[in-house]
Order: sequence, then C-alpha cells, then structure tokens
Amino acid sequence: MEKISYQNKSRTSKVELPSKLGFGTIFTDHIFEMDYSSEKGWHNCAIKPVENLSVHPAAMFIHYGQSIFEGLKAFHTVDGETVIFRPESHLKRLNNSAKRLCMPQIDEVFVLHALKELVSIEKDWIPINSGESLYIRPIMFGTDEILGVHPSKKYKFIIMLSPVGAYYPEGFKPVKILMQDDYVRAVRKGVGDAKTSGNYAASLLATEIANQLGYTQVLWLDGIEQKYREEVIFVEFENEIATPKLTGSILPGITRASVIQLLKDKDYTINERLISVDEFIEAYNNGKLKGVFGTGTAAIISPVSEVTFKDKKMVINNGEASNLAVELFNEITEIQRGNSTDKHNWITKVPTEVAV
Ligand code: COI
Repeated sequence: MEKISYQNKSRTSKVELPSKLGFGTIFTDHIFEMDYSSEKGWHNCAIKPVENLSVHPAAMFIHYGQSIFEGLKAFHTVDGETVIFRPESHLKRLNNSAKRLCMPQIDEVFVLHALKELVSIEKDWIPINSGESLYIRPIMFGTDEILGVHPSKKYKFIIMLSPVGAYYPEGFKPVKILMQDDYVRAVRKGVGDAKTSGNYAASLLATEIANQLGYTQVLWLDGIEQKYREEVIFVEFENEIATPKLTGSILPGITRASVIQLLKDKDYTINERLISVDEFIEAYNNGKLKGVFGTGTAAIISPVSEVTFKDKKMVINNGEASNLAVELFNEITEIQRGNSTDKHNWITKVPTEVAV
C-alpha cells in the first residue's frame, strides 16, 4: 500500500460549527491528495492542510471537462463511534465514472484506507445534530497542459470534507418539482450514468428556470422522446412502488439502491421500469398516485408535494410527505446513526487511532 505523508495544521482553537449548517459552505482543515502520471501511477499521497490549487490555464479538465466526483457522508453514532455510509459503493461508482471518462482507476482499498484516516483526523468536524453530517467529496480531474482533445496523462485526486445540514433549505419538508420537456440532462449512451461535472452544468439552466417559477427541482425526462421519467425518483402507485430503471442516462444512486433494498425487506412490490408522463398523469387523475419522493446522498429522501407538467399541476398526497417517505428517511438515518441494526453492512467504522 502507498505511504501517506501527513502534514498537520495545528489548530489554535476548538472546532466550532454554526448552530444552523447549510450545505457545502464550510470545509475542514485537511484534505487527502494524490497525483497520477502514466509513468508513476498514483503517487504523492498526502493528508495535508487545505490550500488553493495551482493549475496551468491549459489544464485539461477546465477545457474539456475530464472531471468526476463522488458525494458520501460520515456520522457520529449514538455510541460515539465514527462511521461512513456505504463508502465501498461510492468508490466503486467513482471507478465506473473514471472508466467512462477515460480516467485512471483508483485502488479502492487504498483510497478507503486514506478516507478513513482523513475522517478520523477531522472527526471533531462531524456535526452531532440530527439531519447533519460530514459530507465527503472525492474529486478527480485531468491536469495535462495541452489544448488537443485527448485523455489527460496526468490527474489529481482529492478528498475534501464539509460539515453539512439539510441540502434543500426546506429540510425534509416536501418540495415542488417541475417536469419539463424543453431541456434534457443526459441521453442514453452518453455520460448520464457517470458522476461527471458536465452533467451538473447541463442541469443548471432548466433548474434556474424552475427555481424562478417557484420549483425546487426539475424532474428530468428521457433525452430521446421526453416521454419517460429519468430521475432518482420513486412513485407510490396504488399496488406497486416504481422507480425509473437504469437505462444508462440516470446515475445509479446509492441511496436509490438502499431504498430499493429497504422496500424489498418490507416485502413491497418495487419495480425498476419505465414510467411515462402519461401513466403518471393518468394515475394522478384516477386517484392512484399515493406519493412521490426523490433520493440522493445529500438530501437522503426528498418528499415531493407537487409535480407540474405544462399546465397540469398535480398536488401529491395533499402536499404532505407520504408515510413511506418519512419511514424510509427515518430508517436510513437510524442506520447511519447506529440506532438500528446494519443488516446489509452499509456502515464502515472509522478507527479512532490514526495510522499515518
Ligand atoms: C446528491 O447527493 O444527491 C447529489 O448528487 C447532490 C450533490 C451534487 C450536491
């Protein structure tokens, strides 16, 4: 295993977090960083104080978007342990994104070790209030200084940490979403199933428009016909729960996978399948649509109070979070906080003693 060098930034004061944390505005003292070159592989592995990056203006990722990331969370359990939720799945997904963007693979075992060391060093930054966590953001980007379009030969990998509260200002309160067919986020066989920066850039304009109209989020439709929903969203129909199947343009969400597992554990009928706009509207008109919620690492479960498509406004479950959405949110947060049995081994403990 690579050796990690460690430069400590000694704090002169105790970590003090604001009483109300936003999302991703505060960063801890240290990052994990390593470099890649085709000659040396991954090297220069270090846990060091956060500092500004120095990159050449021709760096590949700035021009051509060879840039991927992940988002996962660490918590303090009720027993005072420090844990990370499903880190192996996130690192595996990072490697899948890397493959799609012609970027090098990371050694998942080594990076998990480095991540545990970093979180252990920064454990005083983990907030303790319910709904709060330490958000972990690994990033990888190409740094070749050439303007020709080709896969970079040099990369930087960084893990940074940010104590966070709820992702949406609404907290767990239901959000209004806009289903629109003017813009798409991704197309099948494109990069929609990779966690790459360009997908987020592609989502900005439609989200801005939705925000201006009073909606929190956009509900994306498929890139070809704009007929099927393409989003990490769950729909509670009368006799089944359905979520769009992974067709290549949806990110394989880790919270999505956790929710599917929890629903199976409860013997719900959960189907991963195409859900058309027409089917959704028809179920709504016939009173067969019982609830809608989104999933994601940042928000965990995001109940939906209203879905609008063109001039059709659909108020879901009287604008309230469904019982199921509340139940799933509680179940996931209880596992994360060590309050309930982790029967699927989703929790990875962080050692108290740092080995580096
Ligand atoms: C998530 O965790 O659900 C996200 O992808 C949001 C993140 C980009 C802040």
